[in-house]
Amino acid sequence: MTTTEQDVTATGRPVGADATANLWLHFSRMGAYRDTPPPVIVRGEGASIYDDRGRRYLDGLAGLFVVQAGHGRRALAEAAARQAEELAFFPLWSYAHPAAIELSQRLAAAAPGDLDRVFFTTGGSEAVETAWKVAKQYFKLTGRPQKTKVISRAVAYHGTTHGALSITGIPALKEAFEPLVPGSIRVPNTNLYRAPLFGDDPEAFGRWAADQIEQAILFEGPDTVAAVFLEPVQNAGGCFPPPPGYFARVREICDRHDVLLVSDEVICAFGRLGTTFACEKFGYVPDMITCAKGMTSGYSPIGAMIASARVVEPFLRGTASFAHGYTFGGHPVSCAVALANLDVIDEEGLNRRVLENEGAFRATLERLLDLPIVGDVRGDGYFYGIELVKDRATRETFDAAESERLLRGFLSGALFEAGLYCRADDRGDPVIQLAPPLICGQAEFDEMEQILRSVLTEAWARL
Ligand SMILES: Cc1ncc(COP(=O)(O)O)c(C=O)c1O
Repeated sequence: MTTTEQDVTATGRPVGADATANLWLHFSRMGAYRDTPPPVIVRGEGASIYDDRGRRYLDGLAGLFVVQAGHGRRALAEAAARQAEELAFFPLWSYAHPAAIELSQRLAAAAPGDLDRVFFTTGGSEAVETAWKVAKQYFKLTGRPQKTKVISRAVAYHGTTHGALSITGIPALKEAFEPLVPGSIRVPNTNLYRAPLFGDDPEAFGRWAADQIEQAILFEGPDTVAAVFLEPVQNAGGCFPPPPGYFARVREICDRHDVLLVSDEVICAFGRLGTTFACEKFGYVPDMITCAKGMTSGYSPIGAMIASARVVEPFLRGTASFAHGYTFGGHPVSCAVALANLDVIDEEGLNRRVLENEGAFRATLERLLDLPIVGDVRGDGYFYGIELVKDRATRETFDAAESERLLRGFLSGALFEAGLYCRADDRGDPVIQLAPPLICGQAEFDEMEQILRSVLTEAWARL
Protein backbone atom coordinates (compact mmCIF):
# COMPACT_ATOMS: atom_id res chain seq x y z
CA MET A 1 0.00 0.00 0.00
CA THR A 2 1.30 3.50 -0.75
CA THR A 3 1.64 5.83 2.22
CA THR A 4 0.22 9.07 0.86
CA GLU A 5 -1.48 10.51 -2.16
CA GLN A 6 1.06 11.35 -4.81
CA ASP A 7 1.32 13.58 -7.83
CA VAL A 8 1.76 11.70 -11.05
CA THR A 9 3.64 12.45 -14.26
CA ALA A 10 2.02 12.35 -17.67
CA THR A 11 3.00 8.66 -17.82
CA GLY A 12 1.15 8.00 -14.58
CA ARG A 13 4.34 7.49 -12.56
CA PRO A 14 4.45 9.06 -9.10
CA VAL A 15 6.73 12.07 -8.49
CA GLY A 16 7.63 14.25 -5.53
CA ALA A 17 8.98 13.71 -2.03
CA ASP A 18 6.63 10.85 -1.20
CA ALA A 19 7.17 8.99 -4.42
CA THR A 20 10.11 7.06 -3.00
CA ALA A 21 8.57 6.37 0.41
CA ASN A 22 8.26 2.67 -0.38
CA LEU A 23 11.61 2.29 -2.09
CA TRP A 24 14.74 1.12 -0.20
CA LEU A 25 17.68 2.64 -2.06
CA HIS A 26 20.98 0.72 -2.31
CA PHE A 27 24.09 1.98 -0.51
CA SER A 28 22.19 5.14 0.49
CA ARG A 29 21.65 7.15 3.65
CA MET A 30 17.89 6.95 3.56
CA GLY A 31 17.51 9.68 6.16
CA ALA A 32 18.90 12.14 3.64
CA TYR A 33 15.81 11.67 1.47
CA ARG A 34 13.19 12.27 4.15
CA ASP A 35 12.53 15.82 2.96
CA THR A 36 14.33 15.94 -0.37
CA PRO A 37 13.59 13.12 -2.78
CA PRO A 38 16.43 11.44 -4.66
CA PRO A 39 16.79 12.30 -8.35
CA VAL A 40 14.38 10.32 -10.47
CA ILE A 41 15.83 9.37 -13.85
CA VAL A 42 13.12 8.64 -16.37
CA ARG A 43 14.80 8.29 -19.75
CA GLY A 44 18.12 7.80 -21.54
CA GLU A 45 19.35 8.50 -25.03
CA GLY A 46 22.92 7.85 -26.15
CA ALA A 47 25.21 9.26 -23.45
CA SER A 48 22.46 11.43 -21.95
CA ILE A 49 19.99 10.75 -19.17
CA TYR A 50 16.93 12.85 -18.27
CA ASP A 51 15.21 13.34 -14.94
CA ASP A 52 11.51 13.79 -14.14
CA ARG A 53 11.94 17.57 -14.41
CA GLY A 54 13.06 17.15 -18.02
CA ARG A 55 16.68 18.09 -17.26
CA ARG A 56 19.50 16.47 -19.22
CA TYR A 57 22.70 15.09 -17.69
CA LEU A 58 25.78 13.57 -19.28
CA ASP A 59 26.02 9.98 -18.07
CA GLY A 60 29.67 10.03 -17.03
CA LEU A 61 29.45 6.64 -15.30
CA ALA A 62 27.48 4.58 -17.86
CA GLY A 63 24.84 4.08 -15.17
CA LEU A 64 27.17 2.11 -12.90
CA PHE A 65 29.96 1.06 -15.31
CA VAL A 66 27.27 -0.75 -17.30
CA VAL A 67 25.76 1.04 -20.32
CA GLN A 68 28.58 0.41 -22.82
CA ALA A 69 26.47 0.85 -25.95
CA GLY A 70 24.61 3.90 -24.64
CA HIS A 71 20.97 4.40 -23.70
CA GLY A 72 17.86 4.05 -25.85
CA ARG A 73 18.99 1.25 -28.19
CA ARG A 74 15.96 -0.14 -29.96
CA ALA A 75 17.83 -3.25 -31.18
CA LEU A 76 18.53 -4.33 -27.61
CA ALA A 77 14.96 -3.71 -26.47
CA GLU A 78 13.68 -5.66 -29.46
CA ALA A 79 16.04 -8.57 -28.77
CA ALA A 80 14.55 -8.75 -25.26
CA ALA A 81 10.98 -8.66 -26.56
CA ARG A 82 11.62 -11.33 -29.20
CA GLN A 83 13.16 -13.69 -26.66
CA ALA A 84 10.42 -13.08 -24.09
CA GLU A 85 7.82 -13.99 -26.68
CA GLU A 86 9.61 -17.15 -27.77
CA LEU A 87 10.82 -18.48 -24.40
CA ALA A 88 10.58 -16.05 -21.51
CA PHE A 89 12.09 -18.34 -18.95
CA PHE A 90 13.74 -21.64 -18.45
CA PRO A 91 16.39 -22.48 -15.86
CA LEU A 92 19.86 -23.89 -16.52
CA TRP A 93 19.32 -26.53 -13.86
CA SER A 94 20.02 -29.69 -15.89
CA TYR A 95 18.40 -28.10 -18.97
CA ALA A 96 19.79 -25.72 -21.56
CA HIS A 97 18.23 -23.14 -23.88
CA PRO A 98 19.57 -21.80 -27.18
CA ALA A 99 20.38 -18.27 -26.02
CA ALA A 100 22.55 -19.54 -23.13
CA ILE A 101 24.27 -22.06 -25.41
CA GLU A 102 25.08 -19.41 -28.00
CA LEU A 103 26.22 -16.85 -25.43
CA SER A 104 28.48 -19.40 -23.72
CA GLN A 105 30.08 -20.15 -27.10
CA ARG A 106 30.52 -16.46 -27.82
CA LEU A 107 32.12 -15.74 -24.43
CA ALA A 108 34.36 -18.81 -24.64
CA ALA A 109 35.55 -17.72 -28.08
CA ALA A 110 36.39 -14.24 -26.78
CA ALA A 111 38.06 -15.39 -23.55
CA PRO A 112 41.83 -16.03 -23.58
CA GLY A 113 43.52 -19.44 -23.39
CA ASP A 114 41.26 -22.37 -22.65
CA LEU A 115 38.76 -20.46 -20.54
CA ASP A 116 35.83 -22.05 -22.26
CA ARG A 117 33.27 -23.10 -19.64
CA VAL A 118 30.69 -20.48 -18.69
CA PHE A 119 28.56 -20.52 -15.51
CA PHE A 120 25.87 -17.85 -15.70
CA THR A 121 24.67 -15.76 -12.75
CA THR A 122 22.47 -12.68 -12.51
CA GLY A 123 25.23 -10.23 -11.57
CA GLY A 124 28.79 -9.59 -10.41
CA SER A 125 28.55 -10.55 -6.73
CA GLU A 126 27.11 -13.91 -7.67
CA ALA A 127 29.88 -14.41 -10.22
CA VAL A 128 32.52 -13.74 -7.53
CA GLU A 129 30.67 -15.96 -5.06
CA THR A 130 30.59 -18.69 -7.69
CA ALA A 131 34.32 -18.41 -8.41
CA TRP A 132 35.25 -18.85 -4.74
CA LYS A 133 32.97 -21.88 -4.40
CA VAL A 134 34.39 -23.38 -7.60
CA ALA A 135 37.93 -22.86 -6.29
CA LYS A 136 37.15 -24.58 -2.99
CA GLN A 137 35.45 -27.55 -4.59
CA TYR A 138 38.12 -27.82 -7.29
CA PHE A 139 40.75 -28.45 -4.63
CA LYS A 140 38.49 -30.88 -2.74
CA LEU A 141 37.91 -32.84 -5.93
CA THR A 142 41.62 -32.92 -6.69
CA GLY A 143 42.73 -34.09 -3.26
CA ARG A 144 43.81 -30.83 -1.57
CA PRO A 145 40.79 -30.08 0.63
CA GLN A 146 42.66 -27.60 2.87
CA LYS A 147 43.07 -25.13 0.00
CA THR A 148 40.10 -22.86 0.78
CA LYS A 149 41.42 -19.35 1.51
CA VAL A 150 41.39 -16.40 -0.86
CA ILE A 151 43.63 -13.37 -1.26
CA SER A 152 42.47 -9.98 -2.52
CA ARG A 153 43.68 -6.40 -2.35
CA ALA A 154 43.15 -3.55 0.09
CA VAL A 155 40.23 -1.26 -0.77
CA ALA A 156 39.08 -3.54 -3.62
CA TYR A 157 35.32 -4.05 -4.02
CA HIS A 158 34.13 -7.47 -5.12
CA GLY A 159 30.43 -7.39 -4.23
CA THR A 160 27.91 -7.66 -1.42
CA THR A 161 26.91 -11.29 -0.90
CA HIS A 162 28.61 -12.85 2.14
CA GLY A 163 31.42 -14.52 0.20
CA ALA A 164 32.00 -11.62 -2.19
CA LEU A 165 31.87 -9.16 0.72
CA SER A 166 34.43 -11.25 2.59
CA ILE A 167 36.74 -10.90 -0.41
CA THR A 168 36.06 -7.15 -0.51
CA GLY A 169 38.87 -5.09 1.06
CA ILE A 170 36.86 -2.19 2.49
CA PRO A 171 36.43 -2.68 6.27
CA ALA A 172 33.72 0.01 6.55
CA LEU A 173 31.46 -1.93 4.20
CA LYS A 174 31.94 -5.16 6.16
CA GLU A 175 31.58 -4.10 9.78
CA ALA A 176 27.78 -4.24 9.94
CA PHE A 177 27.71 -7.80 8.61
CA GLU A 178 30.45 -9.49 10.62
CA PRO A 179 31.12 -12.30 11.09
CA LEU A 180 31.72 -12.92 7.43
CA VAL A 181 33.16 -15.95 5.66
CA PRO A 182 36.54 -16.82 7.22
CA GLY A 183 39.73 -17.26 5.24
CA SER A 184 39.96 -14.07 3.21
CA ILE A 185 43.31 -12.26 3.30
CA ARG A 186 44.29 -8.75 2.15
CA VAL A 187 47.44 -7.63 0.33
CA PRO A 188 48.41 -4.10 -0.83
CA ASN A 189 46.88 -2.76 -4.03
CA THR A 190 48.70 -1.06 -6.93
CA ASN A 191 48.20 2.57 -5.91
CA LEU A 192 51.37 4.03 -7.42
CA TYR A 193 50.40 7.56 -6.34
CA ARG A 194 50.67 6.45 -2.72
CA ALA A 195 53.81 4.35 -3.10
CA PRO A 196 56.54 6.87 -2.24
CA LEU A 197 59.31 4.28 -2.21
CA PHE A 198 58.68 3.40 -5.84
CA GLY A 199 57.38 6.69 -7.27
CA ASP A 200 59.87 6.80 -10.12
CA ASP A 201 60.00 3.12 -10.85
CA PRO A 202 56.64 1.51 -11.64
CA GLU A 203 58.31 -1.79 -12.58
CA ALA A 204 59.93 -2.09 -9.16
CA PHE A 205 56.60 -1.22 -7.59
CA GLY A 206 54.91 -3.91 -9.66
CA ARG A 207 57.46 -6.50 -8.53
CA TRP A 208 56.99 -5.47 -4.91
CA ALA A 209 53.20 -5.49 -5.11
CA ALA A 210 53.13 -8.92 -6.78
CA ASP A 211 55.58 -10.26 -4.20
CA GLN A 212 53.18 -9.23 -1.42
CA ILE A 213 50.82 -11.85 -2.82
CA GLU A 214 53.54 -14.49 -2.60
CA GLN A 215 54.32 -13.39 0.96
CA ALA A 216 50.67 -13.79 1.91
CA ILE A 217 50.53 -17.25 0.34
CA LEU A 218 53.68 -18.27 2.23
CA PHE A 219 52.47 -16.79 5.53
CA GLU A 220 49.14 -18.60 5.27
CA GLY A 221 50.69 -21.78 3.90
CA PRO A 222 50.34 -22.62 0.19
CA ASP A 223 48.38 -25.74 1.12
CA THR A 224 45.59 -23.53 2.50
CA VAL A 225 45.22 -20.93 -0.28
CA ALA A 226 42.78 -21.57 -3.12
CA ALA A 227 42.61 -18.37 -5.15
CA VAL A 228 43.68 -14.77 -5.69
CA PHE A 229 40.98 -12.30 -6.79
CA LEU A 230 42.25 -9.26 -8.70
CA GLU A 231 40.60 -6.66 -10.92
CA PRO A 232 42.62 -5.79 -14.04
CA VAL A 233 42.25 -2.12 -13.02
CA GLN A 234 41.05 -1.77 -9.44
CA ASN A 235 38.01 0.47 -9.20
CA ALA A 236 37.59 1.28 -5.50
CA GLY A 237 40.25 3.74 -4.40
CA GLY A 238 40.04 5.38 -7.82
CA CYS A 239 41.31 3.34 -10.76
CA PHE A 240 44.62 1.65 -9.99
CA PRO A 241 46.07 0.23 -13.23
CA PRO A 242 48.56 -2.63 -12.91
CA PRO A 243 52.22 -1.54 -12.99
CA PRO A 244 54.21 -3.03 -15.88
CA GLY A 245 55.06 -6.68 -15.24
CA TYR A 246 52.65 -7.04 -12.31
CA PHE A 247 50.29 -9.60 -13.77
CA ALA A 248 53.06 -11.68 -15.37
CA ARG A 249 54.66 -12.01 -11.95
CA VAL A 250 51.35 -12.73 -10.21
CA ARG A 251 50.72 -15.48 -12.76
CA GLU A 252 54.12 -17.02 -11.99
CA ILE A 253 53.47 -16.84 -8.26
CA CYS A 254 50.04 -18.47 -8.60
CA ASP A 255 51.52 -21.25 -10.74
CA ARG A 256 54.37 -21.82 -8.29
CA HIS A 257 51.97 -22.35 -5.38
CA ASP A 258 49.08 -23.90 -7.31
CA VAL A 259 46.75 -21.04 -6.48
CA LEU A 260 43.96 -20.11 -8.95
CA LEU A 261 44.06 -16.61 -10.42
CA VAL A 262 40.62 -15.00 -10.75
CA SER A 263 40.35 -11.91 -12.93
CA ASP A 264 37.38 -9.97 -11.58
CA GLU A 265 36.29 -8.12 -14.70
CA VAL A 266 32.84 -7.08 -13.53
CA ILE A 267 33.75 -3.53 -14.54
CA CYS A 268 36.70 -3.95 -16.89
CA ALA A 269 35.25 -6.39 -19.47
CA PHE A 270 33.16 -5.72 -22.58
CA GLY A 271 35.11 -2.81 -23.96
CA ARG A 272 35.56 -0.67 -20.85
CA LEU A 273 39.33 -0.84 -21.50
CA GLY A 274 39.00 -1.44 -25.26
CA THR A 275 39.06 -5.25 -25.28
CA THR A 276 36.33 -7.82 -24.67
CA PHE A 277 38.20 -9.14 -21.63
CA ALA A 278 40.67 -6.88 -19.88
CA CYS A 279 43.20 -9.62 -19.10
CA GLU A 280 43.84 -9.61 -22.85
CA LYS A 281 44.91 -5.98 -22.68
CA PHE A 282 47.42 -6.69 -19.92
CA GLY A 283 48.61 -9.98 -21.44
CA TYR A 284 47.74 -12.52 -18.76
CA VAL A 285 45.59 -15.64 -18.76
CA PRO A 286 43.69 -16.21 -15.51
CA ASP A 287 42.10 -19.48 -14.37
CA MET A 288 38.69 -17.85 -14.01
CA ILE A 289 37.08 -14.61 -15.15
CA THR A 290 34.13 -13.04 -13.37
CA CYS A 291 32.06 -10.57 -15.39
CA ALA A 292 28.62 -8.93 -15.51
CA LYS A 293 27.62 -5.26 -15.96
CA GLY A 294 28.54 -4.36 -19.57
CA MET A 295 27.64 -7.77 -21.00
CA THR A 296 24.13 -6.52 -21.83
CA SER A 297 24.89 -2.78 -21.57
CA GLY A 298 22.35 -3.00 -18.74
CA TYR A 299 19.31 -3.74 -20.88
CA SER A 300 18.80 -6.89 -18.79
CA PRO A 301 20.81 -8.31 -15.87
CA ILE A 302 23.33 -11.11 -16.20
CA GLY A 303 26.76 -12.16 -14.91
CA ALA A 304 29.12 -15.05 -15.54
CA MET A 305 32.05 -17.01 -14.18
CA ILE A 306 34.22 -18.38 -16.97
CA ALA A 307 36.53 -21.27 -16.02
CA SER A 308 39.52 -22.82 -17.73
CA ALA A 309 39.50 -26.41 -18.98
CA ARG A 310 41.77 -27.39 -16.08
CA VAL A 311 39.39 -25.93 -13.48
CA VAL A 312 36.26 -27.54 -14.91
CA GLU A 313 37.88 -30.93 -15.57
CA PRO A 314 37.30 -32.53 -12.13
CA PHE A 315 33.67 -31.40 -12.25
CA LEU A 316 33.19 -33.46 -15.42
CA ARG A 317 34.29 -36.72 -13.81
CA GLY A 318 31.93 -39.50 -12.67
CA THR A 319 29.15 -38.29 -10.41
CA ALA A 320 30.77 -34.96 -9.49
CA SER A 321 28.37 -32.01 -9.40
CA PHE A 322 28.69 -28.33 -8.52
CA ALA A 323 25.77 -27.89 -6.10
CA HIS A 324 25.28 -24.22 -6.89
CA GLY A 325 22.97 -22.18 -9.11
CA TYR A 326 20.50 -19.32 -9.41
CA THR A 327 16.93 -19.49 -10.69
CA PHE A 328 17.52 -16.49 -12.91
CA GLY A 329 21.19 -17.22 -13.80
CA GLY A 330 21.51 -17.21 -17.57
CA HIS A 331 17.96 -15.90 -18.02
CA PRO A 332 16.94 -16.36 -21.67
CA VAL A 333 16.02 -12.69 -22.11
CA SER A 334 19.34 -11.54 -20.66
CA CYS A 335 21.30 -14.01 -22.83
CA ALA A 336 19.49 -12.79 -25.95
CA VAL A 337 20.16 -9.18 -25.02
CA ALA A 338 23.83 -9.96 -24.32
CA LEU A 339 24.18 -11.51 -27.79
CA ALA A 340 22.57 -8.44 -29.39
CA ASN A 341 24.79 -6.17 -27.29
CA LEU A 342 27.95 -8.02 -28.34
CA ASP A 343 26.75 -7.60 -31.95
CA VAL A 344 26.44 -3.84 -31.42
CA ILE A 345 29.92 -3.68 -29.87
CA ASP A 346 31.35 -5.61 -32.85
CA GLU A 347 29.41 -3.91 -35.62
CA GLU A 348 30.13 -0.40 -34.34
CA GLY A 349 33.74 -1.20 -33.48
CA LEU A 350 33.33 0.08 -29.91
CA ASN A 351 36.45 -1.69 -28.63
CA ARG A 352 38.53 -0.12 -31.37
CA ARG A 353 36.88 3.22 -30.65
CA VAL A 354 37.98 3.04 -27.01
CA LEU A 355 41.55 2.13 -27.99
CA GLU A 356 41.65 4.99 -30.49
CA ASN A 357 40.18 7.55 -28.07
CA GLU A 358 41.65 6.54 -24.72
CA GLY A 359 44.64 8.83 -25.18
CA ALA A 360 42.35 11.78 -25.93
CA PHE A 361 40.21 10.97 -22.87
CA ARG A 362 43.29 10.89 -20.67
CA ALA A 363 44.70 14.10 -22.17
CA THR A 364 41.39 15.91 -21.69
CA LEU A 365 41.15 14.89 -18.04
CA GLU A 366 44.83 15.70 -17.46
CA ARG A 367 44.07 19.33 -18.29
CA LEU A 368 42.49 19.39 -14.81
CA LEU A 369 45.93 18.88 -13.27
CA ASP A 370 46.29 22.66 -13.28
CA LEU A 371 43.70 22.83 -10.47
CA PRO A 372 45.24 22.77 -6.98
CA ILE A 373 42.69 20.23 -5.73
CA VAL A 374 43.53 17.64 -8.41
CA GLY A 375 46.35 15.37 -7.25
CA ASP A 376 46.27 12.56 -9.75
CA VAL A 377 44.47 11.48 -12.92
CA ARG A 378 44.73 7.74 -13.52
CA GLY A 379 43.04 4.91 -15.31
CA ASP A 380 42.84 3.10 -18.60
CA GLY A 381 40.46 2.94 -21.54
CA TYR A 382 37.21 4.71 -20.68
CA PHE A 383 37.73 4.18 -16.96
CA TYR A 384 39.31 6.99 -14.92
CA GLY A 385 39.69 8.23 -11.38
CA ILE A 386 40.64 11.76 -10.37
CA GLU A 387 42.15 11.90 -6.89
CA LEU A 388 41.46 15.06 -4.91
CA VAL A 389 44.05 16.35 -2.45
CA LYS A 390 44.43 19.12 0.09
CA ASP A 391 48.02 19.82 -0.92
CA ARG A 392 49.34 18.91 -4.33
CA ALA A 393 53.00 19.22 -3.37
CA THR A 394 52.84 16.91 -0.35
CA ARG A 395 49.90 14.80 -1.65
CA GLU A 396 48.20 15.36 1.70
CA THR A 397 44.70 13.98 1.61
CA PHE A 398 41.53 15.11 3.39
CA ASP A 399 40.59 13.78 6.81
CA ALA A 400 37.27 11.96 7.25
CA ALA A 401 35.29 15.07 8.23
CA GLU A 402 36.73 17.14 5.36
CA SER A 403 36.11 14.34 2.90
CA GLU A 404 32.52 14.08 4.12
CA ARG A 405 31.97 17.82 3.66
CA LEU A 406 33.69 17.84 0.28
CA LEU A 407 32.13 14.75 -1.29
CA ARG A 408 28.69 14.38 0.24
CA GLY A 409 28.28 17.95 1.38
CA PHE A 410 29.16 19.49 -1.95
CA LEU A 411 30.63 17.60 -4.92
CA SER A 412 28.07 14.84 -5.48
CA GLY A 413 25.17 17.29 -5.62
CA ALA A 414 27.05 20.08 -7.38
CA LEU A 415 28.34 17.89 -10.21
CA PHE A 416 24.86 16.51 -10.81
CA GLU A 417 23.29 19.97 -10.67
CA ALA A 418 25.90 21.12 -13.19
CA GLY A 419 24.79 18.36 -15.55
CA LEU A 420 27.31 15.56 -14.96
CA TYR A 421 26.28 12.23 -13.48
CA CYS A 422 29.45 10.59 -12.09
CA ARG A 423 30.63 9.40 -8.72
CA ALA A 424 32.45 11.16 -5.91
CA ASP A 425 33.77 8.33 -3.78
CA ASP A 426 35.84 7.95 -0.62
CA ARG A 427 36.10 4.22 -0.09
CA GLY A 428 39.82 4.99 -0.27
CA ASP A 429 41.15 8.53 -0.65
CA PRO A 430 38.60 10.94 -2.20
CA VAL A 431 38.21 10.46 -5.94
CA ILE A 432 35.86 11.28 -8.76
CA GLN A 433 35.14 8.28 -10.93
CA LEU A 434 34.38 8.46 -14.62
CA ALA A 435 33.36 5.65 -16.96
CA PRO A 436 31.23 7.01 -19.80
CA PRO A 437 29.42 4.91 -22.41
CA LEU A 438 31.81 3.64 -25.07
CA ILE A 439 30.02 5.66 -27.77
CA CYS A 440 31.45 8.87 -26.27
CA GLY A 441 34.12 10.95 -27.96
CA GLN A 442 35.85 14.29 -27.68
CA ALA A 443 32.62 16.32 -27.34
CA GLU A 444 31.63 14.37 -24.22
CA PHE A 445 35.21 14.40 -22.85
CA ASP A 446 35.20 18.20 -23.17
CA GLU A 447 31.81 18.48 -21.50
CA MET A 448 33.06 16.38 -18.57
CA GLU A 449 36.23 18.45 -18.26
CA GLN A 450 34.37 21.75 -18.33
CA ILE A 451 31.84 20.73 -15.68
CA LEU A 452 34.55 19.21 -13.49
CA ARG A 453 36.70 22.33 -13.87
CA SER A 454 34.02 24.70 -12.74
CA VAL A 455 32.71 22.52 -9.87
CA LEU A 456 36.20 21.60 -8.59
CA THR A 457 37.24 25.26 -8.73
CA GLU A 458 34.26 26.12 -6.54
CA ALA A 459 35.03 23.20 -4.20
CA TRP A 460 38.58 24.53 -3.69
CA ALA A 461 37.29 28.03 -3.02
CA ARG A 462 34.99 26.63 -0.31
CA LEU A 463 37.75 24.73 1.49
C1 LIG B 1 34.99 -5.63 -9.42
C2 LIG B 1 33.59 -5.91 -8.99
N1 LIG B 1 33.24 -7.13 -8.60
C3 LIG B 1 31.98 -7.42 -8.22
C4 LIG B 1 31.00 -6.45 -8.21
C5 LIG B 1 29.61 -6.80 -7.78
O1 LIG B 1 28.73 -6.78 -8.87
P1 LIG B 1 27.15 -6.64 -8.68
O2 LIG B 1 26.88 -5.28 -8.15
O3 LIG B 1 26.61 -6.86 -10.07
O4 LIG B 1 26.73 -7.73 -7.75
C6 LIG B 1 31.31 -5.16 -8.61
C7 LIG B 1 30.28 -4.11 -8.62
O5 LIG B 1 30.52 -2.95 -8.85
C8 LIG B 1 32.64 -4.87 -9.01
O6 LIG B 1 32.99 -3.63 -9.38
